[in-house]
Amino acid sequence: MQAWLCENPVGVEALNWKELPTPTPGPGEVLIEIQAASLNFPDLLIVQNKYQMKPALPFVPGSEYAGVIRAVGEGVTQLKPGQSVACLSGTGGFGTHTLAPAKLCMPLPPGFPAVDAAAFIMTYATSHHALIDRGQLKTGETVLILGAAGGVGTAAIQIAKAAGARVIAAASTDEKCALCKAQGADATINYGRDNLREAIKALTDGKGPDVIYDPVGGELAEPAFRSIAWRGRYLVIGFAGGPIPNLPLNLPLLKGASLVGVFWGDFARREPQANAAMMSELANWYAQGRIKPVIDCTMPMSELKAAYARMGSRAVMGKLVMVN
Ligand SMILES: NC(=O)c1ccc[n+]([C@@H]2O[C@H](COP(=O)([O-])OP(=O)(O)OC[C@H]3O[C@@H](n4cnc5c(N)ncnc54)[C@H](OP(=O)(O)O)[C@@H]3O)[C@@H](O)[C@H]2O)c1
Repeated sequence: MQAWLCENPVGVEALNWKELPTPTPGPGEVLIEIQAASLNFPDLLIVQNKYQMKPALPFVPGSEYAGVIRAVGEGVTQLKPGQSVACLSGTGGFGTHTLAPAKLCMPLPPGFPAVDAAAFIMTYATSHHALIDRGQLKTGETVLILGAAGGVGTAAIQIAKAAGARVIAAASTDEKCALCKAQGADATINYGRDNLREAIKALTDGKGPDVIYDPVGGELAEPAFRSIAWRGRYLVIGFAGGPIPNLPLNLPLLKGASLVGVFWGDFARREPQANAAMMSELANWYAQGRIKPVIDCTMPMSELKAAYARMGSRAVMGKLVMVN
């Protein structure tokens, strides 16, 4: 097998494409031949030692991937060689093969292509858990999505529309706003050009959004929170914009609003049954055509460094997927 190896987590440039022995699955593990692996924001952080999870060195980055099972370890009865699966295991995806815990593998029904499957779990699970569970988004409510043309953002647009909400999608360029419209957003804000607070006010008749979905943080967070509706829910998803914002606590008080943390990974670990029910609903929505990953582009696995550069330069719209 071959894989991108991180021996020193000082950045993307230090990754090396290496020939490695193909491993044999241990108890509870499966060997997957990888067909596709998507880039998620944590993949960018993990090779710089900036992510909360710090794998032992050396490791192969690539949190999320899809492929075909080639061997199963002792005790694995629910999966068999030849079966197609998607998996989110945190590492291992940027190569030709990987070992994965069987319990993290999602069997794929026929008609679920590997490219879509590799771009599915992280974004849709995060956005469903955020909007429906943590945010209690209701039909007819208005949701503002920041970074709406990104990976979790595009999934959030589709899920909010499936839930019957009115979606205001906000992004940094007109091109990104056009993509959000094509995904079903009712209105858009280009915060690279327009004043965010003024635009929100105009689009909500001064009332503000009931729910705000924020994977960007940075300088957007405070003006967005100041615009939230009475009894609003502000969903803290991530900080792709860099700095972690410091929000004055009088703001939630003044709006009777909630600041709601969202951590899908720990939700899946702590509440596995609720997570499994949610994943099964998402798989049904995919089969019904209600949700579908937005694929920015596919690139050969050998071009991983260029893919990282594309994500780091804020150019990706939807999901970038590496293929073997
Ligand atoms: N809480 C959870 O459970 C959870 C789960 C998954 C992901 N996340 C977090 O969610 C965030 C987004 O993840 P993603 O995979 O959707 O990433 P992504 O596809 O790269 O999207 C991030 C968006 O952030 C915006 N952005 C603003 N400043 C940026 C910068 N300096 N560099 C890159 N993007 C910037 C970009 O939109 P504009 O150009 O339009 O501003 C971009 O589309 C990350 O912080 C990730 O860690 C959290």
